[in-house]
Amino acid sequence: MKALVVYYSLTGKTRLVAEAVAEALNAKLVEIRETKPRKPRAFTYLSGSFAALANRGSSIHLIDVDLREHERVFIGSPVWASRPAPAVNSFIYGSDLQGRDVIPFFTMGGNDSSQALANISAKIERSSGKVAGSFTITTNKVSNEDIVARAKDAVKEHYGQTV
Ligand SMILES: Cc1cc2nc3c(=O)[nH]c(=O)nc-3n(C[C@H](O)[C@H](O)[C@H](O)COP(=O)(O)O)c2cc1C
Repeated sequence: MKALVVYYSLTGKTRLVAEAVAEALNAKLVEIRETKPRKPRAFTYLSGSFAALANRGSSIHLIDVDLREHERVFIGSPVWASRPAPAVNSFIYGSDLQGRDVIPFFTMGGNDSSQALANISAKIERSSGKVAGSFTITTNKVSNEDIVARAKDAVKEHYGQTV
């Protein structure tokens, strides 16, 4: 059964990781898109952090994928204020993850994702999913090539190749 990679990305870093994971595992790749896309600017940092801290969701486009066809679901998010991004919350809140092995992954400027991981894990479990691993990639002052290389390493190390 094929893996699924679902992700949200504001500035493209989580997208790079999601694409690398999907390619390595021959997985289906789906982007979570907000109905009112944010612009990467200072106000977004504030309002986004505030919403993430409050565990809010945001309005997202319908994701046309049958989760029951995918045993393993990778969910990618940037870390916002030590939390997953609101669009990712919305996806998890609206999904029945029963019977799925869920692997959350983050990109972030810093390198301590423990709070974000605890937060997203609780949400995944509330949606009946089982957290079956995780990884985080630091993006600050890291080239896109290195982000992709680190993503490939993380997949190889923890999740094997199914291709
Ligand atoms: C609203 C907002 C809040 C953020 N909060 C954090 C944070 O708490 N810790 C951190 O290390 N990076 C934080 N960042 C940086 C992003 O996590 C980092 O740049 C990430 O790789 C961006 O992913 P993206 O390009 O897929 O959007 C924040 C960025 C934004 C826009």
